[in-house]
Amino acid sequence: MKPPTTSPTLDVAAIRRQFPILAREVNGNRLVYLDNGATAQKPQPVIDAMAHYYRELNANIHRGVHHLSQQATHAYEQARETVRAYIHAEQAAEVLFTSGTTAGINLVATCWGRKHLKPGDEIILSTMEHHSNIVPWQLICQQQQSRLKILPITHAGELRLDAFQELLSERTRLVAIAHVSNTLGSVNPVARVIELAHAQGALVLLDGAQAMPHMRVDVQALGVDFYAFSGHKMFAPTGVGVLYGKAALLNDMPPYQGGGEMIERVTFDKTTFAELPHKFEAGTPNIVGGIGLGAAIAWFAQFDAEAVTAHEQDLLAYATAQLSALPRVTILGTAPHKVCVISFLLADAHPFDVGTILDQQGVAVRTGHHCTQPLMDFYNISGTVRASFAIYNHRAEVDALVAAVARAANMLA
Ligand code: ALA
Repeated sequence: MKPPTTSPTLDVAAIRRQFPILAREVNGNRLVYLDNGATAQKPQPVIDAMAHYYRELNANIHRGVHHLSQQATHAYEQARETVRAYIHAEQAAEVLFTSGTTAGINLVATCWGRKHLKPGDEIILSTMEHHSNIVPWQLICQQQQSRLKILPITHAGELRLDAFQELLSERTRLVAIAHVSNTLGSVNPVARVIELAHAQGALVLLDGAQAMPHMRVDVQALGVDFYAFSGHKMFAPTGVGVLYGKAALLNDMPPYQGGGEMIERVTFDKTTFAELPHKFEAGTPNIVGGIGLGAAIAWFAQFDAEAVTAHEQDLLAYATAQLSALPRVTILGTAPHKVCVISFLLADAHPFDVGTILDQQGVAVRTGHHCTQPLMDFYNISGTVRASFAIYNHRAEVDALVAAVARAANMLA
């Protein structure tokens, strides 16, 4: 392998050294981890923050007068503040800790939907949505006798904004769209989506799971109503995520789950609820997860966002050119504005077979429908091979991917 690329502003070699797992071997080869869309690896500062919590601070939060409980509460609430500042929410109360993007979307669909959706109301989704931004809306629409409308996409994988304007009507109550497509990598024109939806009086929820690891998101600049993301795709542990919601909307919604932490006063006749964010955080939360997420964001925020984008766009251009040059490789998702996610097919080989041969060479990719079956139906395929990159990947790993795909092509020919 060639040495990692180093730019004056982003020292990728130094970044890689912070990820112990990147030094390991898989099937006799140095690991080439290109499944970041599924989950990203964790840098040492995140691993250390979580170990420190269990070694030094472990206690339940928000309830103990004792020292450890107060320290743990402080660490958890500091993590919430780190998230708030990073996404530029107006108040920490608007940052709800969840178990991940799926939980955040289900929370909005259930709590907002039960209160506000009426028969005949419409929710707009797009063809490229992840199942977690489809099924919660189907469930609530069935309950409320509301309807889903589907915003079509172009063959390149871009939202059809012309069709969006036609779909929007006084019946539209909410638009739920991926900020970045997990399968195609398309970066959607969410500012325009929000502008058009708001002009029609509809709310907007963005699924930010695949955007957050690649770009800075400012929820106030966007004016978005709800923004859901996962920790584990942005260098934090699994089992923790965030739902941002405008305070007025969250205050107006009934609680999600009932239990400890989310109450103000309980009697057998009546319960009153805690203020935000606790109203939506029933039960002992994922304390170490929240602390790990805070550490991950603090770690990621040290890098210049433009340098991250420049590095990842270089990888995207390089990998796209190299893969396209291979005979019988077809790339799906050719929108002009993409993050470094490349879905491809190798002639008519099954993606699973390609993925297995790549794994034998130490290259980890995801294969299958990527939880986007309606998108697969749109392309009339059952799945793809997906290489998804992160800040720590470098050109030598593109070379390894391309060599492994070439080998797979020979073996499967
Ligand atoms: N949603 C994740 C992915 O796209 C798991 O791989």
